[in-house]
Amino acid sequence: MAIEFAERIRRIPVYPLAAGYDLGSDIAMLASNESCFAPSIDVLDAANRAMTGVHRYPDPSYQPLRQALADRYGVARDRIALGNGSCDILLAAGEALLEPGAEVVYAWPAFSVYPHLAASSGARAIQVPLDADDRHDLDAMADEITVATRLVLICNPNNPTSTSLPLEAIAAFMARVPRHVCVILDEAYVEFSLTVGDTYASVDLLRRWPNLVLLRTFSKAYGLAGLRVGYGLCGSEDFRAAVDQVRQPFYLNAAAQAAAVEALRHQDEVERRVMHAVAARVELTEGMREMGVWVAESDANFVWVHLRDGVEEPEVIDGLAARGVLVRAGAALGRDGSLRVTIGTEAENGRFLGALRELL
Ligand SMILES: Cc1ncc(COP(=O)(O)O)c(C=O)c1O
Repeated sequence: MAIEFAERIRRIPVYPLAAGYDLGSDIAMLASNESCFAPSIDVLDAANRAMTGVHRYPDPSYQPLRQALADRYGVARDRIALGNGSCDILLAAGEALLEPGAEVVYAWPAFSVYPHLAASSGARAIQVPLDADDRHDLDAMADEITVATRLVLICNPNNPTSTSLPLEAIAAFMARVPRHVCVILDEAYVEFSLTVGDTYASVDLLRRWPNLVLLRTFSKAYGLAGLRVGYGLCGSEDFRAAVDQVRQPFYLNAAAQAAAVEALRHQDEVERRVMHAVAARVELTEGMREMGVWVAESDANFVWVHLRDGVEEPEVIDGLAARGVLVRAGAALGRDGSLRVTIGTEAENGRFLGALRELL
């Protein structure tokens, strides 16, 4: 007889896993919005030093990382949530806030983990279509808030569409949200955003709205995706306490903590990755527009493309893979006929453009 699982297991969508991690080095891995640059020697050394103490559990107070983030952003330590990647905090937020009868509002397409929150909790997901430029339609989202709403997710810049909104628009939205409704502003790509400007700008919003959480990660601009470190800057201590309550105590391993603290000391490295991505996204966008495809205005470390009518997405994905270039299919991310392409090294970007030109 087969094992009988909880009913929600049938509802939870399976995360679209990226392929290629076993294919060796001659592959352009442009499918998961990671950094194409390895961490600096100092960051690797810090992680290695932590390895000598791994017969002990990691520090469950996470004080050095909490303090480093508190110093950097001027947010009290007890209002900083940490997690095994920002996904960990996101899922914990779903567990802490949602239940049958509750509603969660988010734009669609957006980050592919968002549907998981409603499916696993039994809450209702309200998916609000993006506007014609593939940006969040915040007015339409505000219109969907009801007495049942517990959580709103805004992804800025948005994954997978790379588009962003200015903070004035977010502030105007917040003014329409009742204070008991939690809003998570998912800023996984904020370091790359010229629209937002810098990573301090949105922190000001926390002072005005205690129901706001800025969700951030070390997986993108900090280049530590493999170590899994995320954080949330919270408008109030309640959110941090609730997401800690629903998780196991040791969610952040010792090497990850040490690497993240060290990475924060090397903002020049972050700047280098950001400058590379900003220059490359302009080149990629222009290169693809010359081929006649529609490319969104990217404010992130990836670009979002609508293929021309009549061009089959699976054929393009397979053709790129056959040429050693892995990108994400729009079909897996909520929109058929699209591609999401992570910015790689100059050589990888050139290889992608060359392969796409051949296929189109
Ligand atoms: C919008 C968004 N939020 C959150 C995450 C999760 O990142 P991590 O769990 O690696 O911190 C991602 C990862 O791709 C993302 O695109």
